[in-house]
Amino acid sequence: MNSEPPDGKLLDHEIDDIRELDNLLPRWWVWLFNLTIVYGVLYLGYYHVFKVGDLQSAEYAKETKVGEQLKSAAITKFESGIAMLTPTTEPTTLTEGRQIFTTYCAPCHRPDGGGLVGPNLCDDYWIHGSNYVDNVKIIIEGVPAKGMLTWRGVLNPNQIKAVSSYIYTFRGTHPPNPKPAENTVQAPTGPSAFE
Ligand code: HEC
Repeated sequence: MNSEPPDGKLLDHEIDDIRELDNLLPRWWVWLFNLTIVYGVLYLGYYHVFKVGDLQSAEYAKETKVGEQLKSAAITKFESGIAMLTPTTEPTTLTEGRQIFTTYCAPCHRPDGGGLVGPNLCDDYWIHGSNYVDNVKIIIEGVPAKGMLTWRGVLNPNQIKAVSSYIYTFRGTHPPNPKPAENTVQAPTGPSAFE
């Protein structure tokens, strides 16, 4: 196409046959450009002159700190989960365990653990495994078909730990008139059974 440009718009230079028109820049482009200048000034003031905002390194340090807190919280939770798997010998917890046992368990297992409706918890014979963890599992899940209640939802995890640790102290004791063994297989028991 060989159309002539409007008057006055053609600039007077020419390079390799290429000529330039003096058109106005689109308005939206100019405003965008102005905006970047305003933004640049605000940015400079905010981060570098008045130092209100955190620079990258400070932001990194802050977020790392939050991450560390989350991590240590997760580790603490994990460790308390692990602690759930070993009986405690802590006196206050054992006292709490005894109270729970007397209230909820003694009617079936006898206050001294010798057994009544429920089996003897003092001897070396276990129906569901001799380890502390086996006991915890049975207390949490129960054996509803055999009359052992499910304590999940009734006792919280700390209470389950307390009562499980308390009945662990029955091991090796010999209460009078115990309920006879309900399993013919003698399982290793006593404090070493867990290891
Ligand atoms: C209503 C009666 C009843 C109550 C209450 C009861 N139990 Fe039991 N428990 C049983 C019976 C019955 C069994 C045997 C289940 C079986 O034969 O499988 C049993 C089994 C157990 C076992 C597994 C024993 C083994 O030989 O493996 C443990 C541990 C136990 N109970 C702890 C507790 C604790 C702790 C409580 C209180 C929070 C409790 N029980 C409350 C009736 C009861």
